[in-house]
Amino acid sequence: MQDPIEKRLKDKYKEVPKWAEDFPIDQSSDSNVSRRDFIRYLGLVSLGFFAGTVGVWFNSMLKITPRAFNRMKIIDREDLKVGESYVFEVPGYKEPAMLVRLNQDEYVAFGQKCTHLQCPVIWKKDEKILFCPCHKGAFNGVTGDVLYGPPERPLPKLKIEVLPDGIYFVGMERGELA
Ligand code: FES
Repeated sequence: MQDPIEKRLKDKYKEVPKWAEDFPIDQSSDSNVSRRDFIRYLGLVSLGFFAGTVGVWFNSMLKITPRAFNRMKIIDREDLKVGESYVFEVPGYKEPAMLVRLNQDEYVAFGQKCTHLQCPVIWKKDEKILFCPCHKGAFNGVTGDVLYGPPERPLPKLKIEVLPDGIYFVGMERGELA
């Protein structure tokens, strides 16, 4: 029986073109190859999904959360003057945090990203506020609560410990760092 592809080519071109003679297509084996390819692609896609899942799991295992360490030293006491601020990073988080020395023995620390649209806030020591220059939002420098402007949520607040040798981050008091 004539191969349907060959018949179709003959009907179309009246005679089999040269390329079809050079590369004859056997339809039955052609569909076999497609099925084999399909299974191969399916295998590759499954493998990709599996590798992605393992990657996400591995990444989550590696991510250091505040509970993964007891405390992290932020800075020596004498390195931060009264009224000044210090931006630092907490391992495992992209969002930086800001430590402020309010007076001789009082320190506070907040996430540095504004809760409106994530601009970094800056410490204004004269007004004792954390100010967001993007849309003129402001947070209370002691509590992190919203004072004015577009933000609706307070800044994430870090729990800190003040020890003789320095200031330590020991977890989150409110919210989460990004
Ligand atoms: S991003 Fe801070 S007020 Fe808009």
